[in-house]
Amino acid sequence: MSIYKNVLITGASSGLGRALAILYAKSAENIFLCGRNFENLQQTKNLCLAKNLPTNFVANIHLKILDVKDQFASYNWIEEIEQNHTLDLVIANAGISAGTALGSESQTQVNEIFYTNIMGAINIIQPAIEKMTKRNSKTNSTKNYGHIAIISSLAGFVALPSSPSYSASKVAVRFYGNALRLSLEESGVGVSVVCPGYIKTPMTAVNNFKMPFLMEADKAAKIIFNGLEKKRAQIIFPRALYYAISLLNCLPNFCQDFILKKLPKKSQLNYELNKNQ
Ligand SMILES: NC(=O)c1ccc[n+]([C@@H]2O[C@H](COP(=O)([O-])OP(=O)(O)OC[C@H]3O[C@@H](n4cnc5c(N)ncnc54)[C@H](OP(=O)(O)O)[C@@H]3O)[C@@H](O)[C@H]2O)c1
Repeated sequence: MSIYKNVLITGASSGLGRALAILYAKSAENIFLCGRNFENLQQTKNLCLAKNLPTNFVANIHLKILDVKDQFASYNWIEEIEQNHTLDLVIANAGISAGTALGSESQTQVNEIFYTNIMGAINIIQPAIEKMTKRNSKTNSTKNYGHIAIISSLAGFVALPSSPSYSASKVAVRFYGNALRLSLEESGVGVSVVCPGYIKTPMTAVNNFKMPFLMEADKAAKIIFNGLEKKRAQIIFPRALYYAISLLNCLPNFCQDFILKKLPKKSQLNYELNKNQ
């Protein structure tokens, strides 16, 4: 069982969010999942139920069609859940990506990526923090009022010319999460920032280049699950890729530019795919 009983995951209709949902379905009491595509979300629910057949235990699975870019709908969802449940883990996972394979990013693409990846996370995190910080200490002697996990990326450690707005959006949520953790230290609310490398999901399925250390979504979800059980401040993996990026960041700027310019271009298709899902 997980230390978390009521778990919310945004972007659970595919990829990493779905893999996390499957894990928490086995170990939490209630899981609250959102996405924009109902059929995909329903498929996640079916997989959660199917995967739990052998143990005969499955959490209550609550689905919500939600665009995390909608601040008021996101706020209302948290309000709605908190009327009957106390959220103790909120995973801001929903995200989109796109690249510069066809030249430069369009204004629409940049707006969509920034708004989804940054404001989409904040729209969920802020109302959750509001609820968590108001919890009465009498009801919880350990002063452990809730935990927030923000899915950033190793792309948030490097200025990728193949996806400028994606890597910038992931730096933003990484810094936001790390600062938030320190600012909330006294309040009993924990924050973990998750920075994965390449994971095999629909987001990376359109990349037509070799992705170093590409990992299956269920393996990545397990690493994140274990890190969150230990309430790790930062969950960064795979370490080898992280060290390589850290080394790159130590080089003089002209060397970094020389190497980064040689990286393969990320497909622009990602944006269109995500937009139409
Ligand atoms: N794959 C990787 O290599 C990798 C590496 C590092 C970090 N990440 C991060 O991991 C997270 C999950 O990505 P993934 O690889 O699993 O991609 P994915 O399979 O494309 O999943 C993205 C999820 O986000 C949801 N989503 C997108 N926009 C949304 C919106 N406006 N409102 C609500 N839900 C929205 C999608 O659902 P709907 O389309 O149904 O809305 C989908 O469930 C992202 O934050 C991504 O940046 C991925």
